[in-house]
Amino acid sequence: MKKLNLTTSIDVFESSEELSQQEQILLQKAEEACNKAYAPYSEFYVGAAVLLENGEIITGSNQENAAYPSGLCAERTAIFYANAQYPDSPVVSIAIIARNKNGVLDNPVAPCGACRQVMLETELRFKKAYDILLVGHSSIQKIKSSKDLLPLSFVGEGLIKKADS
Ligand code: THU
Repeated sequence: MKKLNLTTSIDVFESSEELSQQEQILLQKAEEACNKAYAPYSEFYVGAAVLLENGEIITGSNQENAAYPSGLCAERTAIFYANAQYPDSPVVSIAIIARNKNGVLDNPVAPCGACRQVMLETELRFKKAYDILLVGHSSIQKIKSSKDLLPLSFVGEGLIKKADS
């Protein structure tokens, strides 16, 4: 038997002032997006801001629906829109923030599994890792690759394409 040890490296910041100017702007955009969330059912508001290599910042927020599974998380709303509008521009970084009725969550919000899967595919698609900033009131976590968020991931390897006919 062999043991496989997986490690995840996370930079933790106590304040946004420790971040670059560009990252601070991204945080600000994520917070603005959070305030535009449509979350009447959970009252849990999430915002995401995606910085692209072409300089565009695309934001998204969670969009809920009375038929619950039809809703979409903030991260996927932003990433899918970014990839749909700018399919050739890799992601440089994404900032994610969440609040409830009491305000911005104290601890950084961690993306759900489905969002991690989409975040990973975006990294693989552009063959470029990007920074993930998880923002809380008391601390900010910076993760350098989606692979760190989703070890042992399904990456489509072995999917057999239909032969051209
Ligand atoms: N949510 C997100 O937008 N992102 C996440 O990573 C986790 C959850 C949303 C989905 C739903 O609208 C609400 O938060 C409660 O789960």
